[in-house]
Amino acid sequence: MTLQDVDEETRCLLESQAHIWSHIFSFINSMSLKCAVQLQIPDIINRHGAPMLLSELVEALSINKTKSQCVYRLMRILVHSGFFIKQRVSTTNEEEGEGYLLTPASRLLLKEEPLSMRPFLLAMLDPILVDPWQHMSTWFQNDDVTPFQTAHGRIIWDFACEEPVLNRFLNEAMASDARLVASVILKRFAGVFEGVDSIVDVGGGNGTLIKSISEAFPNVTCICFDLPHVVKGLNGSKNLSYVGGNMFELIPKADVVLMKWILHDWSDEECIKILKRCKEAIFPSKEKGGKLIIIDMVVMNDEAGNKTLETQLRCDLMMMTLATGKERSENEWARLFADAGFSDYKITSILGFRSVIEVYP
Ligand SMILES: C[S@@+](CC[C@H](N)C(=O)[O-])C[C@H]1O[C@@H](n2cnc3c(N)ncnc32)[C@H](O)[C@@H]1O
Repeated sequence: MTLQDVDEETRCLLESQAHIWSHIFSFINSMSLKCAVQLQIPDIINRHGAPMLLSELVEALSINKTKSQCVYRLMRILVHSGFFIKQRVSTTNEEEGEGYLLTPASRLLLKEEPLSMRPFLLAMLDPILVDPWQHMSTWFQNDDVTPFQTAHGRIIWDFACEEPVLNRFLNEAMASDARLVASVILKRFAGVFEGVDSIVDVGGGNGTLIKSISEAFPNVTCICFDLPHVVKGLNGSKNLSYVGGNMFELIPKADVVLMKWILHDWSDEECIKILKRCKEAIFPSKEKGGKLIIIDMVVMNDEAGNKTLETQLRCDLMMMTLATGKERSENEWARLFADAGFSDYKITSILGFRSVIEVYP
């Protein structure tokens, strides 16, 4: 007897239970991946250089060997979710005839991979950033600005200013994302910076993105602008300088203001204040190349690929939980630009679930 053979009511009951279980336990996907990364499983398999037998992996892992049996179970779910594949290996031991190999996704989690997302994964799944999710329903009923504040008693930017550990891993996480984004933009969309004399990267973190731009365009004057504790002690180069300040007050002047993953951190009212400061900072007219470049999400409509929309909706709740921001649809972006006094915009979707938005004064 299969699920097809049972009556409609029972089938609906069991399918609903499966749907709920799938949601209840989806955190297991991220936590299993985090465990594998912390145990350096992708790096160990990569170093092995050939399909790695379970026994070889167990031997190479720095674990309590009484837990060896459990490695297979961890690997089984990660094979199922596409982080490793299994390939036949010729061996005399029948039970271990298959070895593990990396997939493109687990390659992006290697320590030594230049575009590694490892720091991003470890930051996003750190208890400091995961705890606020336990407080979401309490936050809906209290006066705190974010579930992060309910969990930690401070907003995320104050916490990062006061706790060097959070400051460091947030900056490393952002830098790892910036490296990947910089590589795509400079390869496929470098024209967006052609003819520009100066760029200020607002909320530029430790300067990873603007540093890549400054190296690709040595004649462009580049500024990385962020809160004083973020840029403290960072050294620039011939065409890159670091400036500390508050984007709600004053942004250094430039031809182009760049903002990657900034506006999604803030509410509409806060965004309009930031956008007005950006408009004041851009000194040439639209015709002479003055513009704002935003790298952020444009939330798709329901017909969009399911995975992309799901990621965007998850990121939207993340912005609600950690900061006061949100992910925006094109209409929501257009309204913000008009309210801040900008004349026009152009969206180019070249960054997967994120886009490049050029906004003109
Ligand atoms: C989500 S991070 C993005 C970092 C970087 N743009 C990137 O995408 O890699 C947000 C950045 O905004 C900075 N930030 C927050 N409040 C700020 C303010 N009032 N003025 C300037 N920067 C600020 C934070 O320090 C942080 O570096």
